[in-house]
Amino acid sequence: MAQIFPKWTNALPTILLIVVLAGGGAITGFFWYFGSPEYTDVGYQPVQPVDYSHKLHAGELGMDCRYCHTGVETGPIAGVPPTQTCMNCHTLVKTDSKKLERIRDSWATGKPVKWVRVNKIPDYAYFDHSPHIAAGVGCETCHGDVRNMEKITQVEPLSMGWCLDCHRNPAPNLRPASEITTMNYIPPANQATFAAQRIKDKKIKPPITCSGCHR
Ligand code: HEC
Ligand code: HEC
Ligand code: HEC
Ligand code: HEC
Ligand code: HEC
Repeated sequence: MAQIFPKWTNALPTILLIVVLAGGGAITGFFWYFGSPEYTDVGYQPVQPVDYSHKLHAGELGMDCRYCHTGVETGPIAGVPPTQTCMNCHTLVKTDSKKLERIRDSWATGKPVKWVRVNKIPDYAYFDHSPHIAAGVGCETCHGDVRNMEKITQVEPLSMGWCLDCHRNPAPNLRPASEITTMNYIPPANQATFAAQRIKDKKIKPPITCSGCHR
């Protein structure tokens, strides 16, 4: 009987398997690399050089976010505080704490602490904190319940779709100025009326055209 398939095809399943495995490996590699938290972002929690706790300082001690993030209302960048800000208290409090060694070194040498950036969008997209704060979007909406975080974790994707979801309909996310840094904020029963009034008064109109965020 004539062979329909030539002999070499016996090796075909093996070849196919190798191709699939190699290709599969590449695909797995792709998701491992781009899908790791730094790229899908949500849940990203880098190790910081100092074991600083927002839960302690902003939560239990009740410090205002703007005491340390001084730029947040006035410009694009919220800013991470210089060692000086920490030493306002730590020249007096916990002066021999091991956990504060890096801070004392930085203070003595003048070399800034290398905090690791958590939330980051690519350079080709433009973000500015100040108009968001002025419009009435709270820190919590984009950064989560920071007052309860021992370590800062990224909680929102910061993707284009995420930005646009709010830009198309900001009303549910607007608060009075006094509630900007409040955590676990519960919108009032009249949120819709409040937001409509605020949008009108402040002429709030988030950009949805490409050039609004890609400048
Ligand atoms: C005593 C100073 C201090 C106070 C008060 C403070 N922070 Fe911070 N914050 C820091 C420092 C230092 C870092 C950098 C280290 C880290 O990420 O934990 C930081 C980091 C952050 C980050 C992450 C920045 C990034 O890299 O993406 C966010 C978000 C943030 N703070 C929000 C807040 C909010 C919201 C409040 C108020 C509820 C607040 N912080 C209060 C000192 C402070
Ligand atoms: C307004 C005052 C104040 C400022 C400003 C401040 N802290 Fe503190 N911090 C405290 C107090 C009070 C404690 C101690 C609470 C306690 O008794 O356990 C503390 C505790 C700590 C601890 C834990 C020390 C230990 O041994 O348990 C670290 C780490 C720390 N702070 C880091 C920082 C850093 C970093 C900054 C600057 C970004 C900073 N603090 C700014 C008041 C402050
Ligand atoms: C509308 C969403 C939004 C709100 C509201 C918001 N942030 Fe941010 N935040 C971001 C985004 C997006 C980034 C990353 C920006 C980038 O990479 O250019 C960021 C970055 C940061 C950073 C690190 C980089 C920097 O700018 O210094 C800190 C600190 C921070 N935010 C603190 C705060 C605090 C404190 C508040 C409230 C007073 C706040 N943010 C409110 C979206 C927001
Ligand atoms: C929860 C709601 C919300 C989210 C999330 C949000 N925005 Fe906005 N954005 C606003 C509001 C409200 C304004 C203010 C519009 C005004 O006052 O006219 C605004 C304004 C802006 C502006 C115009 C500022 C100016 O100076 O003209 C830019 C640019 C912008 N947002 C970029 C972004 C980017 C990029 C992201 C995502 C990384 C983002 N926003 C996420 C609500 C949001
Ligand atoms: C509200 C702000 C905003 C607007 C408006 C906006 N973008 Fe983006 N865009 C972003 C952000 C933020 C990123 C980065 C997303 C990330 O890192 O995941 C991005 C990413 C992109 C990318 C890279 C690929 C991707 O999806 O991550 C392209 C391409 C892009 N935008 C095109 C556009 C075009 C075309 C428009 C107009 C139809 C537009 N954008 C409007 C904020 C915006």
